[in-house]
Amino acid sequence: MEINSIGIIGAGAMGSGIAQVGATAGHDVLVFDTSQEARIQARDKLQKILNRLVEKERITDAESKAIFSRHFFIESMSSFKECDLIIEAIVENIEIKKSVFKKLESICEGSTLLATNTSSLPVTAIAAACSIPERIIGLHFFNPAPLMKLVEVVPALQTAHSHVTACFDLMKSWNKIPVLAKDTPGFIVNRIARPFYSEALRMLDEGIADIATIDYAMTVKAGFRMGPFTLMDFIGHDVNFEVTRSMYEAYFHEPRYRPSFSQQQLVHAGYLGKKTGKGFYNYTIDEGKEPNRDTDFCSMITNRIVCMLINEAADALYLGVASRDEIDTAMTKGVNYPKGLLSWADELGIQHVCKTIDDLYNVYHEDRYRVSPLLRRMSDENDLFY
Ligand SMILES: NC(=O)c1ccc[n+]([C@@H]2O[C@H](COP(=O)([O-])OP(=O)(O)OC[C@H]3O[C@@H](n4cnc5c(N)ncnc54)[C@H](O)[C@@H]3O)[C@@H](O)[C@H]2O)c1
Repeated sequence: MEINSIGIIGAGAMGSGIAQVGATAGHDVLVFDTSQEARIQARDKLQKILNRLVEKERITDAESKAIFSRHFFIESMSSFKECDLIIEAIVENIEIKKSVFKKLESICEGSTLLATNTSSLPVTAIAAACSIPERIIGLHFFNPAPLMKLVEVVPALQTAHSHVTACFDLMKSWNKIPVLAKDTPGFIVNRIARPFYSEALRMLDEGIADIATIDYAMTVKAGFRMGPFTLMDFIGHDVNFEVTRSMYEAYFHEPRYRPSFSQQQLVHAGYLGKKTGKGFYNYTIDEGKEPNRDTDFCSMITNRIVCMLINEAADALYLGVASRDEIDTAMTKGVNYPKGLLSWADELGIQHVCKTIDDLYNVYHEDRYRVSPLLRRMSDENDLFY
């Protein structure tokens, strides 16, 4: 299938980034947003980004002009008629998304591929609202789309295989790293990353460690780019809490994904993180929070969080969410983890990972600390992921 002209619906953070990627790869990109202000802002932001790229000599002036000229900010969805692929990146609300897809179907040719950039909604349910569900697919980019290499390609149950192949080929031609993800809540990255936040919150809530120490241990000792509390403040507690809450609901109240009251309190208070000047940290003053740098204490923290992440990754493999290699690629390329979690498991020793989680279970007797059946079997058989 040949994909030339691309349509983007939603000119917010993700839509405008995806449009830039498509135009940089040489496609004409039609961008629609119901908000005129959003369209104007997206165009202004694009110009600024391209100017900066020219200043930094990443692209030439001629390339910048060509990329800009391949963007068409359109005022009506009817212009999408000629597009080969349309990527939806509007508000994360299933009813609104379904109605937009229905409208797109009334405009586009039957051969147009329709993709959603949803982070958390079932692609299968969106496809079910369409008259040609075979052409609906998830293309989950990461923020900021021009910089992050990973794209989770998420076929709905109904999606035609040829469309999956076409999307893989297209993403590779856009210099992205596509990985195949099963249509399950959170796909690969947002599912496997849950313990990064939840175990950190748990240790904070129980007074085991403070935020500065957990962030210090996870960055300086474990090699993550940002500590869990800095990252939650950066994402925004409204967004991060809502993702956790919706995952918890979508997995029928699976205890591993239970949201944290202390994060909910921050949302109630409007302490949403960096964007409001206050979250776990106060960004308006220098709080002078000093971490406890004790090596053994820091390893207890990193070991607990990393083992819980490995358990989640192993469970995703066990349940067929993605392959071993795709899981490790997703976490290193989608959220910049220092190592693939399954290769990390081999390094730490699978028996050690199981023992860490079993020890937590023996303290709490909570289902949350349950070793994945795959890890248990591998531990018994002395097996390795690689
Ligand atoms: N922000 C992220 O980190 C991120 C990462 C991956 C995926 N996503 C997903 O991408 C989608 C968009 O997220 P975002 O962060 O870009 O949101 P955003 O709020 O920045 O932008 C959404 C845009 O959609 C427009 N819009 C809303 N309803 C519309 C409609 N019916 N028709 C046309 N335009 C409409 C809004 O005016 C707004 O400009 C969501 O599904 C989100 O879950 C977000």
